Amino acid sequence: MKDIIVAIDGYSSCGKSTMAKQLSKLLNYHYVDTGAMYRAVTLYLLRNHIDIHHPEHVKEALADIQIAFDFNEYTQTQITLLNGENIENEIRVNPRIASTVSDVSAISEVRRFLVKQQQLLGSVKALVMDGRDIGTVVFPDAELKLFITADPTIRAQRRLDELKVKGQNTTFNEVLANLTKRDHIDTTRADSPLRKADDAIELDNSYLSKDDQVSLILKLVNERKSATA
Ligand code: DC
Repeated sequence: MKDIIVAIDGYSSCGKSTMAKQLSKLLNYHYVDTGAMYRAVTLYLLRNHIDIHHPEHVKEALADIQIAFDFNEYTQTQITLLNGENIENEIRVNPRIASTVSDVSAISEVRRFLVKQQQLLGSVKALVMDGRDIGTVVFPDAELKLFITADPTIRAQRRLDELKVKGQNTTFNEVLANLTKRDHIDTTRADSPLRKADDAIELDNSYLSKDDQVSLILKLVNERKSATA
């Protein structure tokens, strides 16, 4: 059976990354979390006080940004590196990242810069990549495309639980407002907005257990692998 590319898109906080990670482990595939790349760029721009409303300043700054992924064998988790620094925790818990990342990801210069790197990572197959434009822009020919959705209030509760575990003090309403705002920016931006690719399979996981979800997807992967063989 041939190796394939699994492209996973969907709304914020619907468990895409957790599911994609679990899937890549089971398949022994490489995993790329493209949201982490947009978060890393956002962190760099914030730290260096780059005005995101000036695309030419942003474009200049991109030349100084190197993003890489490392794997922590001890915690068995992926780590995002920005110019060699481990920024994994900061990009997940810093509220300024959550409130700015959708605006940064609407900048065409940023998208071009990251999409190019993502496409290079897919030059060898055996890849699970998640994001917002993977099935539509990054890998329009991916063998399996999934579009994940879930009820916004369920997504907000999941995100709140995650933040609490990480020691963040926030409320359900704040989380829901941030999520709704991000959904709006992600789906209405001019450059590669979040949308379901015509040939993607839509999966609403509001009431689906993680295990059921992953077995359903594994079945689809195996079907596509045999079809490609
Ligand atoms: O998946 P996430 O929440 O870590 O993504 C952070 C932001 O990055 C999200 O608001 C949308 C943006 N993003 C994007 O525009 N395209 C991608 N391929 C991945 C993420």
